[in-house]
Amino acid sequence: MAQIFDRSSNALARASLVLTGLIVIALGVTLDQLQRSPWVTRQGQRADQPVPFSHKHHVEGLGLQCQYCHVSVEKSSYAGIPPTRTCMNCHSQIWTNANLLEPVRQSWATGESIVWTKVHDLPDFVYFSHEIHVNKGLGCSTCHGRVDEMPIMYEQNTLQMEWCLNCHRNPKVNLRPTSEIYNMAWKGASEMTPVWCSASDVKSGTPTAESVNCTTTDPNPGAGSSEQASLHLIPVVNAQTTDAPSSAQPAQTTSYTKFTSQEALGDFLVQHYNIRSPRDLSSCEVCHR
Ligand code: HEC
Ligand code: HEC
Ligand code: HEC
Ligand code: HEC
Ligand code: HEC
Repeated sequence: MAQIFDRSSNALARASLVLTGLIVIALGVTLDQLQRSPWVTRQGQRADQPVPFSHKHHVEGLGLQCQYCHVSVEKSSYAGIPPTRTCMNCHSQIWTNANLLEPVRQSWATGESIVWTKVHDLPDFVYFSHEIHVNKGLGCSTCHGRVDEMPIMYEQNTLQMEWCLNCHRNPKVNLRPTSEIYNMAWKGASEMTPVWCSASDVKSGTPTAESVNCTTTDPNPGAGSSEQASLHLIPVVNAQTTDAPSSAQPAQTTSYTKFTSQEALGDFLVQHYNIRSPRDLSSCEVCHR
């Protein structure tokens, strides 16, 4: 080879190899970024809907609960989109002449459903279920954002595999008491917003979320002295610890633990909600069956 190609062409070949490598990497990075761009993921985009339905008006303004319209979110894989009848509960009396509501009246008159554009839409080869997430203490806002502040619905998160896995590898930072799943403003347990929980243990292997009881108000407000002493301890067993004989309180049967950090609350909930290990939750079969 050395007789045909001299040293300089050797260097040229090497340089062009490096150059090709760089182009391939650049292309890869561009494609990867394109794949994550809102243009592909539809993150943040407002879909064109037949009726400009406002969650802000109906949830924040009128105080309607999510389940009023998304009736199956706790007991099936689909949250469900409400039928026209649900809208007509009110709109047969309110805003009956508004142009904006013409498609709703049309649908009611003809019996043909309103065709809403899907905002969230996973590919068919991915399995997802609302039931388990909601019943294991994941709130709507963790995945959908501040729906109560959205005049027009949009996708808050990418719904890409990486996003799902991020939580499946470390769910505890996102877990909350199941009583708080509809709380749009939930920010986790902290010194300022402590959470008290008790757990009655049921046999292992069953879903245990029902055995956990949590509250965001002090269940033993009388325990003043132990409250002060416990200020810096995380977590702290609050009830049944008062050794002051002067305490007029009757003996408590449930013992609540006070949590002043999301870390500690998350550890407790992972254990008592019987959440699988990050390794089990990240295996392919969980989402690709
Ligand atoms: C008065 C009925 C009503 C209430 C109450 C309501 N929604 Fe909706 N929701 C709808 C309708 C209608 C749509 C479809 C139109 C749209 O996307 O805006 C929808 C769509 C959605 C979507 C997007 C669906 C998709 O296409 O991917 C999410 C997420 C959602 N709602 C969450 C919530 C949450 C969380 C709450 C409670 C904070 C809530 N909704 C309360 C009626 C309601
Ligand atoms: C509990 C009663 C109630 C239900 C159920 C209800 N609405 Fe409304 N809706 C109202 C009221 C009240 C207003 C007027 C809000 C305002 O102007 O502050 C309104 C306003 C609207 C408007 C005008 C724009 C706006 O947001 O102000 C649209 C469009 C609308 N509703 C669509 C729907 C659709 C679609 C459904 C069914 C998925 C529905 N509504 C269900 C009470 C209701
Ligand atoms: C762990 C994340 C997560 C949580 C928690 C969650 N959702 Fe969803 N939601 C999704 C995903 C992902 C989709 C898209 C599902 C699909 O395309 O198959 C979706 C779709 C929806 C839809 C569209 C219709 C449907 O059933 O596919 C509605 C409505 C909805 N969610 C409402 C809610 C409400 C209300 C809550 C709280 C009670 C909630 N979601 C909690 C992730 C979540
Ligand atoms: C914010 C946290 C979070 C996000 C985001 C999330 N998950 Fe989960 N997921 C969980 C937790 C917690 C469980 C319950 C695990 C358990 O009980 O062992 C779970 C369970 C599941 C299960 C098991 C259902 C069963 O019956 O075995 C599936 C499937 C699943 N998730 C799919 C998804 C998909 C697909 C996405 C993304 C579109 C997603 N999850 C996003 C936290 C999350
Ligand atoms: C927590 C749920 C979850 C787990 C676990 C999971 N995936 Fe996925 N996967 C998804 C979702 C959601 C998508 C769809 C992504 C999108 O629409 O952009 C996806 C898409 C894919 C795709 C299509 C290409 C792509 O990136 O869009 C392949 C291939 C894939 N997954 C392979 C795997 C393999 C292999 C494993 C195990 C190592 C795995 N997945 C584990 C949720 C999951």
